Amino acid sequence: MRKKIVAGNWKMNLNVHEAKLLFQEISAIVSKDNGAHEVLIFPSSIYIESLLNINQSSIEIGAQNFHHQNKGAFTGEVSAMQLKQLGCKWALVGHSERRTIFHENDADLLNKLKAALENDLQVIYCCGESLNERESGMYFEKIGEQIGLLKTLSQNEMNHITIAYEPIWAIGTGKTASPAQAAEMHDFIRTKLESIFNLEVADSTSLLYGGSCSPQNAKDLFACSNIDGGLIGGASLQANAFGEIIAAI
Ligand code: PGA
Repeated sequence: MRKKIVAGNWKMNLNVHEAKLLFQEISAIVSKDNGAHEVLIFPSSIYIESLLNINQSSIEIGAQNFHHQNKGAFTGEVSAMQLKQLGCKWALVGHSERRTIFHENDADLLNKLKAALENDLQVIYCCGESLNERESGMYFEKIGEQIGLLKTLSQNEMNHITIAYEPIWAIGTGKTASPAQAAEMHDFIRTKLESIFNLEVADSTSLLYGGSCSPQNAKDLFACSNIDGGLIGGASLQANAFGEIIAAI
């Protein structure tokens, strides 16, 4: 059985008081929930420890970013090893904001995947095409390439990978992929995983949708057979909206 997951990516938002309050509000919602799925929060890394300390729910906390080396002279960086020691369970790799704004390339992402896996973190590996790639009909090629990066991982390592399909044109724009567009891509990703690995890996990897996912559209998106949950940005900053998305799964 694939895990159903709803993950909140808070990005570089909230002050420390707001972060703790929001976390407590979301925890209260999750505690009343039936617990059939996982809820993850990716806060700014400086808040991870405080949230771990107040966490009394089943929510798991992840890191939005990290350096691939475990330690060394990398001023300003935080390693996967340090995050793991703190109690972090998850990490994002390949988010489009990291790929575009911070110019992370395939080699960087592969190093990060390896570092996260060596440190026993679960990874949400993100992929997504730009508006240009969507409009020029190149979106399957693009996603195929991005998923192809995983081919050097072993089947055992793939047990620690969740994939999020996040079309860049839908992130933070209020413009969601239609359930048909999202479902088409999720079907493609699952088939791609089968061709790179095998049916077992394809069937057991959770595939999340991200990009302006909201209480209004979550139900229709999550109803698609190959959509196993969501990676939520903006709507995860409001407990009620996030709670409705959790309920939609
Ligand atoms: P959004 O962000 O929900 O605000 O579109 C999603 C993401 O970037 O993970």
